[in-house]
Amino acid sequence: MKVANVVGARPNFMKIAPILQAMRQDSFFTPILIHTGQHYDAAMSDVFFRELELPIPDVNLSVGSGSHGKQTGEVMVRFEEVISADRPDLVLVVGDVNSTLAAALVAAKMHIKVAHVEAGLRSFDRSMPEEINRILTDAISDFLFVTERSAEHNLAAEGVKAEKVFFVGNVMIDALMANRKRAAASDVLKRFRLEENAYAVLTLHRPSNVDAAEPLERIVAALEVIRDKAPIVFPAHPRTLKNLQRFGLLERLERGGKVRVVEPLGYVDFLRLTDASRMVITDSGGLQEETTMLGVPCVTLRENTERPVTVEQGTSTLVGNDTAKILAAAENGLASGRMTARIPELWDGQAAERIAAVLKKHFS
Ligand code: UD1
Repeated sequence: MKVANVVGARPNFMKIAPILQAMRQDSFFTPILIHTGQHYDAAMSDVFFRELELPIPDVNLSVGSGSHGKQTGEVMVRFEEVISADRPDLVLVVGDVNSTLAAALVAAKMHIKVAHVEAGLRSFDRSMPEEINRILTDAISDFLFVTERSAEHNLAAEGVKAEKVFFVGNVMIDALMANRKRAAASDVLKRFRLEENAYAVLTLHRPSNVDAAEPLERIVAALEVIRDKAPIVFPAHPRTLKNLQRFGLLERLERGGKVRVVEPLGYVDFLRLTDASRMVITDSGGLQEETTMLGVPCVTLRENTERPVTVEQGTSTLVGNDTAKILAAAENGLASGRMTARIPELWDGQAAERIAAVLKKHFS
């Protein structure tokens, strides 16, 4: 069974690694890896391939950055050429980035089966590009692999037939469990001169938080207070860094030296940094899941989440970008430190094996 596995942006790489590994262990599968090139920097892409022991992609479409239309369109044009020349039995996409939707759309129109890993998540906020990508990808997928029960309900409510939906757990947690020991050996704390359990980690990249001056200013105002209680390490997404500079906020954030703005980190260093932190402040989707698994309080700079299990059972608190709300949640987070959160159902490191088993059964 020939499977074209597609990755494009940073949060895809750790999800595909366990899937590829599961497929490579069984000669039934002939997996190939296609990188759309949506993320292309060494720090946003190459380091993940090295650390997650991903093979060099069979094809790199090198689409790069651009408007949503241009980026999605470029992936479609180039992906269609590649899979026309070498038709797979299945196209497997993960997550919710533009590359996910583009590849799924091409495959569906070529009557090639589509598997979507991390299907069914809904924030119910269509101003998020990812929400559009999720809804449309799910609508044209043949195998919908879900990470939490809420996703099953969402898909049922949208009329997706239950026989297409498979609750398998979370491949991102597979990657976390497979790498946690290795991450413990990372020297990242030493490099940044941090004490275990005595600092906060910040990540920030959602357009609704960083593309306009006002929300970003509200967040920076909160960080100016939090940094006096615990130093903050901030591996900054390239777009966020550009905007902080553009809005004249970078200098304010770094004043006093308690917020350390650093380059985006690789998977292993970042996992260690999170695992040893007292609290995470983020607008990332994946990080809400990782902190839940690690028991680290997560102040989530979003009004909603497509991953409600991380709030209901996990460590995430939704606060949006209101200064006072961020401060209140951060106080709690710093006070409590590590928590014993409930581990969501099937987040046990075996999701990729379950996916491979479902596919094998159907294609045998
Ligand atoms: C994308 C995903 C988002 C995901 C995020 C993780 C979509 C719609 N968004 O957002 O869901 O959470 O990745 O990082 O697919 N840039 C670089 N180097 C790179 C890549 C990007 O400098 O390697 C800069 C460019 O200025 C680019 C900008 O970042 O224009 C945005 O990149 P893009 O891929 O469009 O979206 P992200 O914000 O990274």
